[in-house]
Amino acid sequence: MNNKIIIINGPNLNLLGEREQSQYGSITFDKLKESCKKKCEELKLEVNFAQSNVEGELVNAIQESRKKYDAMIINAAAFTHTSIAIRDALELFKKPIIELHISNIYKREEFRQKSLISDIVTGGIFGLGTDGYILAIISLQKLLKNEN
Ligand code: DQA
Repeated sequence: MNNKIIIINGPNLNLLGEREQSQYGSITFDKLKESCKKKCEELKLEVNFAQSNVEGELVNAIQESRKKYDAMIINAAAFTHTSIAIRDALELFKKPIIELHISNIYKREEFRQKSLISDIVTGGIFGLGTDGYILAIISLQKLLKNEN
């Protein structure tokens, strides 16, 4: 079955609900995981989560995902703007990837307006709050269904 997805989250996203609520809303990371799991159950997707504040751990998680998952949602957080290592690892994944940002990075500071991964992912969602995760799950389910 082509139905296993992983949602990878970068630095500081573990502190959702606590950090800059005006940008990221008030939902906690645990609650966000719960609602993603619920949506995935509904859509008959198997889902796992990874979160790390450490660049190398994210690279490892992306590498390990190659054999285990059919698609990926990634919010690389600040590493979006800095990490060639994460970009290189994503290029090796070779399956659908959605880049996700809770905030609209193009409306924020100049250093956030550059993503090092946008040109190698399948598509992206930004600026729609944490609902973006649910929208990304729906999109991946459609992509995977069409590929079956
Ligand atoms: C973010 C945007 C990044 O610029 C920032 O460093 C984050 C979160 C977002 O989801 O809006 O940590 O990826």
